Amino acid sequence: MSKPFQISRRFFLQKSALAAAASGLPLWFVQRELAAQEVVKTIASPNDRPAIALIGCGGMGTGDAQNAGRFGDIVAVCDVDQRHADAAAQKFTKNGKTPAKYGDFRKLLERGDVHAIVQGTPDHWHTLINIAAAKAKKDVYGEKPLTLTIDEGKHVIQAVRENKIVFQTGTQQRSSKRFHLACELVRNGRLGTLKQVEVFVPAGIRGNQFKKASVPAEFNYDFWLGQAPVAEYVAERCHTTFRWWFDYSGGPVTDWGAHHNDIARWGIGLDGPVGVEARVVTPPLPDGYTTPSEFAATLTWANGVEQIVKTTTADSPFGAVLDEHGQRNGVKFTGTAGWIWVNRDEITASDKQLLLAPLPDNAVKLEVSNDHMGNFFDCVRSRKDPIASVENGHRSACIGHLIIIALRTGRKLAWNPAQEVFTGEGAAEANVHLARPMRAPYDYRFAG
Ligand SMILES: NC(=O)c1ccc[n+]([C@@H]2O[C@H](COP(=O)([O-])OP(=O)(O)OC[C@H]3O[C@@H](n4cnc5c(N)ncnc54)[C@H](O)[C@@H]3O)[C@@H](O)[C@H]2O)c1
Repeated sequence: MSKPFQISRRFFLQKSALAAAASGLPLWFVQRELAAQEVVKTIASPNDRPAIALIGCGGMGTGDAQNAGRFGDIVAVCDVDQRHADAAAQKFTKNGKTPAKYGDFRKLLERGDVHAIVQGTPDHWHTLINIAAAKAKKDVYGEKPLTLTIDEGKHVIQAVRENKIVFQTGTQQRSSKRFHLACELVRNGRLGTLKQVEVFVPAGIRGNQFKKASVPAEFNYDFWLGQAPVAEYVAERCHTTFRWWFDYSGGPVTDWGAHHNDIARWGIGLDGPVGVEARVVTPPLPDGYTTPSEFAATLTWANGVEQIVKTTTADSPFGAVLDEHGQRNGVKFTGTAGWIWVNRDEITASDKQLLLAPLPDNAVKLEVSNDHMGNFFDCVRSRKDPIASVENGHRSACIGHLIIIALRTGRKLAWNPAQEVFTGEGAAEANVHLARPMRAPYDYRFAG
């Protein structure tokens, strides 16, 4: 009876040693993760393929839908730019079946046969579509950042919870072993007392003097603008470059920042900071993109941790702000006993023993997911909360929104993370930015 166990045990050890060598992760951690996977693996029957609809068929939405196609079938696509809907419908045609095309997500959401939504619209559309999908009882994989404003987050959480849908935020670094290891070590005091978390994000872009153009016939520009103010059409306002305009997004603060601030918060282990100040390093050009391409911010946390968030660029005329590893993108945790640096490619530490020494059995264990989209579909089946729950998405997005409010007001601000309001000096001015006016008819009533 013991032989099969010995064989599988040997196989397991070989598999972990190979995985550890390939990933650069410590063996103890890889062994633990693989063992956990063996236990939790849920096998879906081949017939258990939910019908999925993609809303927002740009770069990320299309990538997400392709990823989701491992678990279900793409039966419908929706975009306010018909060219994007056409391309997605073609891409997801399978076995002679072409997904149905929509220009208005509300029509798509009327379909009773659609179970899950993949949401890849620009930031200023996330909230209304997520709420409408929740009200239509669809489970949602929704791209980061969860929202455009702090106030929107409260509405989305309410819709998700009231309608009991499964919601995964597209902050996929939560499903990466490197970030998981870094945060778990930090949470277990491996660095002694955590003192500082530095978040480095790539700088945004500057640009102006955009050429006026007529709106392409296939593009419903007013629908694309949605809640944002009416603005003269220039191509640089919309597809992909929307992220460099405050009306639709937040620049580098909420772009890469949404990912790394989520990791910073996971490592710190608290809901939100208690103070924020920020400065523009490189101002936008006149009559161009409105978000600063380079900024630096400092946030304070109730446990005494200082969080720095700043852009890095090698060729900035204002001087490169690379960390000591020459890195421009990642998170560094520093405590009284050393530091850990982590990004999507590597994890390193001031002393390699900080990574190599296993955590004790009674250590605080963070939730494990090794496949962000897979975790969403596992939860669609189990009805549990995915690793990047709507509350996690909201609280992590708030860090970016707080920095933006500090940049826009130019004030040092105190924040109450439980009440989600600014307090003290400058609070009245800052609290005005918790929500933004929504242009009719694209306000909450539009979400049904
Ligand atoms: N998780 C990640 O790593 C990651 C990476 C890139 C982008 N993103 C996020 O994905 C989102 C999309 O980014 P992108 O770069 O793919 O943008 P994009 O401009 O390429 O795509 C957005 C698409 O949404 C469509 N759209 C806009 N309003 C719509 C509406 N009301 N209904 C239906 N379609 C609508 C646009 O026409 C466009 O086709 C952003 O929120 C971004 O932050 C996440």
